[in-house]
Amino acid sequence: LQQVLFKNPNEPPMVFHWFPLIGSTITYGMDPPRWFKETRAKYGDCFTFILLGKKTTVYLGTQGNEFILNGKIRDVNAEDIYSVLTTPVFGKDVVYDCPNAKLMEQKKFMKIALTTEAFRSYVPIISGEVSNYFKRSPDFKGKSGVVNISPKMAQITIFTASHSLQGKEIRDQFDETLADLYHDLDMGFSPINFQLHWAPLPWNNRRDHAQRTVAKIYMDTIKARRARGGETDAQDIMYHLMNSTYKNGVKVPDHEIAHMMIALLMAGQHSSSSTSAWCMLRLASQPKIMDELYEEQVRVLGADLPDLQYEDLAKLPLNQAIIKETLRLHAPIHTILRAVKSPMPVPGTKFVVPTSHNLLAAPGVTSSDPHYFPNPEVWDPHRWSADSPNAPAMVKSYEEEEKIDYGYGLVSKGASSPYLPFGAGRHRCIGEQFANVQLQTIVAMTARHFRFRNVDGSDKVIRTDYTSLFSRPLEPAMIHWERRGE
Ligand code: HEM
Repeated sequence: LQQVLFKNPNEPPMVFHWFPLIGSTITYGMDPPRWFKETRAKYGDCFTFILLGKKTTVYLGTQGNEFILNGKIRDVNAEDIYSVLTTPVFGKDVVYDCPNAKLMEQKKFMKIALTTEAFRSYVPIISGEVSNYFKRSPDFKGKSGVVNISPKMAQITIFTASHSLQGKEIRDQFDETLADLYHDLDMGFSPINFQLHWAPLPWNNRRDHAQRTVAKIYMDTIKARRARGGETDAQDIMYHLMNSTYKNGVKVPDHEIAHMMIALLMAGQHSSSSTSAWCMLRLASQPKIMDELYEEQVRVLGADLPDLQYEDLAKLPLNQAIIKETLRLHAPIHTILRAVKSPMPVPGTKFVVPTSHNLLAAPGVTSSDPHYFPNPEVWDPHRWSADSPNAPAMVKSYEEEEKIDYGYGLVSKGASSPYLPFGAGRHRCIGEQFANVQLQTIVAMTARHFRFRNVDGSDKVIRTDYTSLFSRPLEPAMIHWERRGE
């Protein structure tokens, strides 16, 4: 009754719920994409629901993506939402623990190290790590076997990312203490910490201890590098950050460099490891495509399969399409939130979103919409070649899009593409190219070594686990592997 009587005609419709604080938190949380679709069918693209006691206005579709992800800085704000979670994990004065203008400068510094030249040196590092992993891991001993692929991909992701982005010195510590410390940091990202981030609970104490210890490891490394002159070191991310200066003339302080190093590794870890696990699971459900991947490499690179180089990746379109198509259906960031800082009229409607609401964008909804992607529920990497009957109709390539600079290099100006797994606007991902290089190398190397299939030989696909902030395959995600040529 209250929901009917106190309905404000200038606000988007409120999704019906029984309990004032819980609202739709549970039904949303169990399967956000399904809930978005069902709720959209009843209420349209723009509606409000209660998420953990907070009025949250969802705006779906390409116009919704544009409205939220390209919102003006005076209207929308990410740090008010995320900093309770990220600041204790990354540390002070970086990312969401500083004004947006400073984040834009920090993104520029971090991006400088992610150049083509750097990627050229990363591909042999990443492929070497993958081969080594498959050689050494007891789970891949022998000619064939069954394995829970998700934790394996999590390890491969952290080894390849730390080695390429942070150097061998740091990578080697992942075999010892760093893996556990990063695990403790990770606990800080549990969704429950949106409420309990401050509480002196065991996992928060471990998070705080891990943050201090990891930051010290990086700061000691910085000091050691500086003491021996620094210039001779590899031009990795730490090197670039040590040589970066803010517009106001202040050099980036050591503690900020350390905290950015943590942020970079954490930002990529969940998204990339979930994506690589999904790639493997999708290949296991369609082994024919895994064979095609192998054949593509033999055709393009030669039957002796020489060591993979950065330039080779662009010559393997099916290998590239595996990542693209997997991110279309399994974008790990299914929900993007913003605080509303001034009342926001929704163009073309009578609605105004008040400052008491949060905004929620879900770009995954358009990337699985039949309006843009024929047979959207079919995982079909071939759809990304123009002559495919499933080719998307309205997705421009990055090169075709008009560009803008928010302070960290050129990005697409619009946010209304139906395909946005890396977000859009001032908060857009800076790790996209790195993630592509990393994931394409991992997939190519895995296809060289193995043939995967589902344990029961079927083509079914594992369900998604939405209980953490990043969606991922439900575990155990078992696959059957067989060494190629055995
Ligand atoms: C931001 C996705 C890998 C670093 C984002 C956003 C998305 C995203 C959707 C926007 C978040 C928002 O608007 O609130 C992904 C996916 C990845 C990936 C799908 C892999 C498949 C990486 C990697 C790195 C990275 C490897 C680091 C090397 C960042 C950073 C931001 C960001 C620094 C900016 C946050 C901000 O400005 O608020 N990413 N990411 N990401 N990502 Fe990624």
